[in-house]
Amino acid sequence: MAETESAVVDADIGFQLIPEQASDYAAHIDYLYFALLGLSGLLITILVGLICVFAWRYHHDRPERRGAPVSERTSNRIEIAFACALAVLFAGTFYWASNLYLTLYGQTHADLTINIVGKQWMWHVQHPDGTREINTLHAPIGETIELRLTSQDVIHSFSVPALRFKRDAVPGMYTTAYFKASKTGKFRLFCAEYCGQSHSRMRGRVVLMEPDAYQQWLARNGAGENPAVAGKALFSSYGCSGCHLGKSSVRAPALDGLYGRTVPLANGSTIVADEAYIRDSIVEPQKDVVAGYQPIMPSFAGQISESDIFDIIAYIKSLQPGDWEQGDPTGA
Ligand code: CUA
Repeated sequence: MAETESAVVDADIGFQLIPEQASDYAAHIDYLYFALLGLSGLLITILVGLICVFAWRYHHDRPERRGAPVSERTSNRIEIAFACALAVLFAGTFYWASNLYLTLYGQTHADLTINIVGKQWMWHVQHPDGTREINTLHAPIGETIELRLTSQDVIHSFSVPALRFKRDAVPGMYTTAYFKASKTGKFRLFCAEYCGQSHSRMRGRVVLMEPDAYQQWLARNGAGENPAVAGKALFSSYGCSGCHLGKSSVRAPALDGLYGRTVPLANGSTIVADEAYIRDSIVEPQKDVVAGYQPIMPSFAGQISESDIFDIIAYIKSLQPGDWEQGDPTGA
């Protein structure tokens, strides 16, 4: 199940000058990288070469140039041509890079969403069925996988060079990024943002498997509780049910069918109730007060772990419209 950091050895991965390409788009990122490197090398060679040639050719102490008249050339065609060529090169590489960036980060469909919480100094991984692991991420190849990242303390960065994947885990918000692995095996995982004393030891591995093998692995290791079921218990133990299920005199918004709905806010605007909105409502409830309700929801910041918030979100997502009119769906 959970593998500790000491179980992670680099010996079975070996030295690599350039990381292996284990994702669909790794090759595209490498093309861009080598194109930029080659282009920079070419430009530096040309510029330094011309500087040397001109420095020698127009060196004032060469006997044949002594007393030579200063050039009276007024045309600047060469300069303009050079500036235009650079502008075209710059625009071309900008288009190439931004296009690639938008393709990677602008995805909306995912076959599988895995939650990751960074914490000094380890990675907590939560699979959709409730399976949890530490410092290791098992994932199937050939499927678009969304990682939803956050941090319990300071900024970390989830970096898997073989996937050409890197995304910051930022406290107080969710960041997402996608990858589609193409190669089975074990690959290195690093924290790529300095996060304190043991930053350099905040590493692990990513185990990419055939989809069947991933399902078998889940079945073998999935002793974890279903997140929605775990979230239901937390919903009661944190006291959320007291107000939101109408058992107390306090009137709080009903949460059945909330996920994905457009919610009217007291400030006149609206917001779509996604994961980020639900998280904000728990730790920063005064930020988006729902229209028609008193701003009396207490903040749970500092009292609830990010893992628990993920479970409560899973529970709220599982509630269908009308669930609460038939009584308490939690049975609590
Ligand atoms: Cu976490 Cu560096």
